Amino acid sequence: MKEGNTKNKQRYTGPSFSSSALGSFVADHQQIQKYNSLKSSLEEFAHQYYVLDDPTVPDAEYDRLMRQLIALEEIAPELKTPDSPSQKVGGKALSKFEQVTHELPMLSLDNGFSADDFAAFEQRVKDRLILSDNIEFACEPKLDGLAVSIIYEGGVLVKAATRGDGQVGENITENVKTIANVPLRLRGSVIPEKLEVRGEVFMTKDGFESLNKGQKEKGEKVFANPRNAAAGALRQLDSKITASRPLRFYAYSAGVISGDTIAQETTHSERLIKMGEMGLPLCKESDVANGSIEAMQYFEKIASMRNRLNYDIDGVVFKVNDLSLQIRLGFVSKAPRWAIAQKFPAQEEITVLKDVEFQVGRTGAITPVARLEPVFVGGVTVSNATLHNQDEVQRLGVKVGDSVIIRRAGDVIPQVVSVVLERRPDDARDIVFPSNCPICSSEVIRTGEEAVARCTGGMKCEAQRKEAIKHFASRKALDIEGLGDKLVEQLVDQTLINTPADLFHLTLSQLVELERMGKKSAVNLLQGIEKAKATTLPKFLYSLGIREVGEATARNLAMHFLTFESISHADKERLIDVDDVGEVVADNIFKFMNDEQNLAIVEEMMKAGVNWPSVEQNISSDHLLSGKIIVLTGTLSTLSRSEAKDRLMSLGAKVSGSVSAKTDLVIAGEKAGSKLKKANELGIEVWGEEQLVEFFAS
Ligand code: IVH
Repeated sequence: MKEGNTKNKQRYTGPSFSSSALGSFVADHQQIQKYNSLKSSLEEFAHQYYVLDDPTVPDAEYDRLMRQLIALEEIAPELKTPDSPSQKVGGKALSKFEQVTHELPMLSLDNGFSADDFAAFEQRVKDRLILSDNIEFACEPKLDGLAVSIIYEGGVLVKAATRGDGQVGENITENVKTIANVPLRLRGSVIPEKLEVRGEVFMTKDGFESLNKGQKEKGEKVFANPRNAAAGALRQLDSKITASRPLRFYAYSAGVISGDTIAQETTHSERLIKMGEMGLPLCKESDVANGSIEAMQYFEKIASMRNRLNYDIDGVVFKVNDLSLQIRLGFVSKAPRWAIAQKFPAQEEITVLKDVEFQVGRTGAITPVARLEPVFVGGVTVSNATLHNQDEVQRLGVKVGDSVIIRRAGDVIPQVVSVVLERRPDDARDIVFPSNCPICSSEVIRTGEEAVARCTGGMKCEAQRKEAIKHFASRKALDIEGLGDKLVEQLVDQTLINTPADLFHLTLSQLVELERMGKKSAVNLLQGIEKAKATTLPKFLYSLGIREVGEATARNLAMHFLTFESISHADKERLIDVDDVGEVVADNIFKFMNDEQNLAIVEEMMKAGVNWPSVEQNISSDHLLSGKIIVLTGTLSTLSRSEAKDRLMSLGAKVSGSVSAKTDLVIAGEKAGSKLKKANELGIEVWGEEQLVEFFAS
């Protein structure tokens, strides 16, 4: 934070103005100074937050300064400059958008869909340049948003326009000014007289989710994807609405440049760096590749991280990095010869819903599963997709026989996005939810506000039994090596096991009888089961599959009560005392622990030798973190989240999943998002990964 700003904060207590004879206010020297100081503080904080991703003040402080600035401008409008940060909140609504003719046309890109397409592009470039050496490429994610042109004159944002047809776009200056990371004024001392910045406006995935959540709550239109939501936000005539939408901008090239200060760079990547120095936000994933092998490696890298990025991309753009080579290559019709958009396989496809089946989960939840005409989407052939629950089926208005749009993004379960109503056949039939469990015929009920319908069969239901045993054996639970889902199904089908406790009574002779089970695998499985008996109380609690008791809650329960017996005897009030445990979870735990069948299973497991070290041994009460409530967020690079959790817990800390006023410390890895923001808002201490690792080492 700037020193001058701190001083001002202490001195300034709200706007006060001298009044002229006519009753209007004229700001005095001190107030002008105050105004300029507020302006530069706000610019600096926005830059730190949105461009550098490194905020130094809580949001509340930014908002407070912004309110002061707006108050000053209301009383003394003559102070307001065209680059005032107050414009971030939007201004007067327009009646229509004016047309803008681009000084230089906004082009599009040729697409490539395979490594062969890229090789052909590279060859064309080499042939044209009569070159045989490796070409250097600037590599950038292809952002899935909307292209805009932003013009700065004398460093001040004066105009912004959509791409339109490439020649003529619409004047969306007021809207673009509200985009959080778009600077209204460029930074630094060498700024071109005129600079046209081109880039993409998009909505973050986080922002999109919360926008849609809000829209749903208000009963308003939900957006199909972040791109549509971004387009909708940019199209608003009232820039206050645009300001309320989570839009972002990344610059990816320059259009018109005059005054020549940044025209001296020899490569595209250097030019982007210069633009970054001027305060323009750039995509951090951009890189440079020397030759096609490196370029393809970059493509694979970005493809593999696509899902983890907080913005949608639909490919990678490769640009010949040398600007003089770009000039020599020139353009064909509407696209440059020096660039190619290498696209990822489509994530959405159309197919036919052939049938709907109902699956029963571990907690009895009945999930409608769409059986589809197989379709290649997101890089794999998909023949099933989840329809989630009855509300979702209703929302989609989908019927069996419909043509549907399927989305498969990365490793996420394929989803049915929408129905193509125009293609509905005459014999399309309604999806009827069962009133009895398709597996055990017990009654299916939907309680309270829950969106899911559940089978009431409990452990009588074979499907629930199978899922409970799979969960028990899973990695984060007892981690039984050699016991996969298929094998669990086989064991239940053969009635060799009925409950997780039965696993501990399996014999070699039983196992070798199973289809596709050799003696060696059987011995390994028995060893895996034996090994899994030595566990920890949190893992054991988690393995029981109590509804809504995830890893973090299981750990908190263990730390709070220290023994299984105390948890099983606790009443609901005592359970609610545990971090992260509310009424509903307490009720679930209480019911589980007071069910005779469950207790008998637990007892049988203990008898079979399931054990864990006593929890007290792990806690050092005089440790710095003992009893502290810690939240982990973002990606850690030197250790996994669960390792970090385990170590913190072993030091007596409580690890929670959400930030609240009760949180003592937040550990923020890379790409920490809303939790970090909230921690900053609440003034909670935040450590980076390095600090955590150092602490562990000390
Ligand atoms: S360069 C002449 N770089 O893709 C070069 N475009 O298909 C023009 N896009 O309209 C654009 N990410 O909206 C460029 N890193 C990137 C991009 C990018 C997304 C979009 C842009 C453009 C479209 C062309």
